[in-house]
Amino acid sequence: MKTLKDRYEDVGSRWRQDFSSIRRPDLFGKFIDVIIDNAEFESAKVLGLMSGDAGLELFFANHLVGLDKKVELDILDFSPAMIKVAKSEGIILRKIIGDVRSAKIESEYDFVILKFGLHDLPREDQPLVLQKISRLMSENGRLILIVYFSPSREAQVHYNNMITLKDELVGYKSERHFATLGEIVDMVIKAGLKPKIKMLSESKINYFKTELLDSGSRKAFSAKLFQMNIFAGIDDSLGIIHTADGPEITFPLATLTARK
Ligand SMILES: C[S@@+](CC[C@H](N)C(=O)[O-])C[C@H]1O[C@@H](n2cnc3c(N)ncnc32)[C@H](O)[C@@H]1O
Repeated sequence: MKTLKDRYEDVGSRWRQDFSSIRRPDLFGKFIDVIIDNAEFESAKVLGLMSGDAGLELFFANHLVGLDKKVELDILDFSPAMIKVAKSEGIILRKIIGDVRSAKIESEYDFVILKFGLHDLPREDQPLVLQKISRLMSENGRLILIVYFSPSREAQVHYNNMITLKDELVGYKSERHFATLGEIVDMVIKAGLKPKIKMLSESKINYFKTELLDSGSRKAFSAKLFQMNIFAGIDDSLGIIHTADGPEITFPLATLTARK
């Protein structure tokens, strides 16, 4: 069985094209409004964790340069294939290859961005990573947390099962966990930070168009979803719609900022 890291190594070169509905580059402008939020600063050290291609981090850094701010951008990801896609376009960019849970990071940061990373960590590691982030933030620092979340406890069981199943069918073992928004807010508070929910939106994911189609596992996925009772009357609350390519799953997403 392969690991989650292997999976990102496999999809890295396709991340920008095939997974753009997940990445939501169309929302970058709105994310920036939320991030800036009346902040007064001349220069900023920015850290993007589990950054992948660092689309938002680079967009943000370029925005700051456009406002005549000085910017230093560090990004971290455990997949060399994912981080390789990050192109600096004039910004000084330091790439760190490492696991967010164990990487030694010495600096302090004014902005820490964690976009679509939390759910990739096992449940028990999520609060630990948020505590680590809290320690990495400067006194006036901000965390920008963009998350997929489970809309309810009932839906959470299905969301987690669906992803575990999809991961298994394409050949690797994962321990991803989609917390509810309430659980995420609690974890942020327990990490010593004051969170504010700034924006709610959604992301549509059709695994048939990406990994399941490649691996030829689409039939097995569909059959298993029926078996798991996911299509039996509760697909409305789960945001699953049937398309010609198979079920399209809507993951709610939230943008939070948090300070010390
Ligand atoms: C869903 S992708 C999000 C990438 C990017 N932030 C975005 O919004 O497009 C999750 C990223 O986290 C990385 N990742 C997953 N687990 C990690 C870990 N334990 N440590 C470091 N990076 C990790 C993956 O390699 C991948 O690039």
